[in-house]
Amino acid sequence: MASTDTEKLPYYEIGARLRKACVADARAIQALINLYAERDEMLHRSLGEIYENIRDFYVVETGEGEIVACGGLHVVWSHLAEIKSLAVKEPYQGCGLGKAIALACVEEAQDLGLKTVFALTYKPEFFARIGFKVVDKATLPHKVWNECVRCPKFPGCGEIAMVRELAPATEEVIPPAPVRLALPLIE
Ligand SMILES: CC(C)(COP(=O)(O)OP(=O)(O)OC[C@H]1O[C@@H](n2cnc3c(N)ncnc32)[C@H](O)[C@@H]1OP(=O)(O)O)[C@@H](O)C(=O)NCCC(=O)NCCS
Repeated sequence: MASTDTEKLPYYEIGARLRKACVADARAIQALINLYAERDEMLHRSLGEIYENIRDFYVVETGEGEIVACGGLHVVWSHLAEIKSLAVKEPYQGCGLGKAIALACVEEAQDLGLKTVFALTYKPEFFARIGFKVVDKATLPHKVWNECVRCPKFPGCGEIAMVRELAPATEEVIPPAPVRLALPLIE
């Protein structure tokens, strides 16, 4: 159960868990996103788009099995990925869910060897708190604009472009695995 406004507990103390999304979460993800899209705070996503990109998504599920937050990392180019469709159900806002999902995306981007993560957002203060900086939208590659030009608000949407540069990966030395051949012994 969500905590009250005066007493916001961190999400892991309310029995919620962050995990990668599965196909069965698609409708709950869409409902969450479109709730805010109806208020012009996010872009609508079709069910088709969500299924096609389901592997991008993280969700937070309560102990009762309700999906109360979602968001995903979408790789755009060789060095670049976007944090997309970040949404937290209202009673659960302020418990650290948005931050947990965004940081999971940043960590995944780092693991993938990407250099930059960006977000297009109406909530710059939230992203600033997790290390993103405002940039001129025009500095993002043209590929990013593909979705913008399809948006009814283009070109005057007012979304702010923010990026977080990732530290270069430190070289990890992985010891070679012992070789085990499953061949039948020749007698
Ligand atoms: C924006 C949103 C994702 C934030 O999620 P959240 O779970 O409420 O945020 P968190 O509890 O993880 O907050 C993390 C930090 O950001 C701060 N923060 C959260 N929302 C903020 C806002 N709107 N303005 C300023 N700071 C904010 C919190 O105070 C917290 O700071 P701290 O780390 O110093 O304690 C959520 O409010 C939401 O779903 N909004 C509606 C949809 C939307 O606008 N999505 C963004 C699309 S890009």
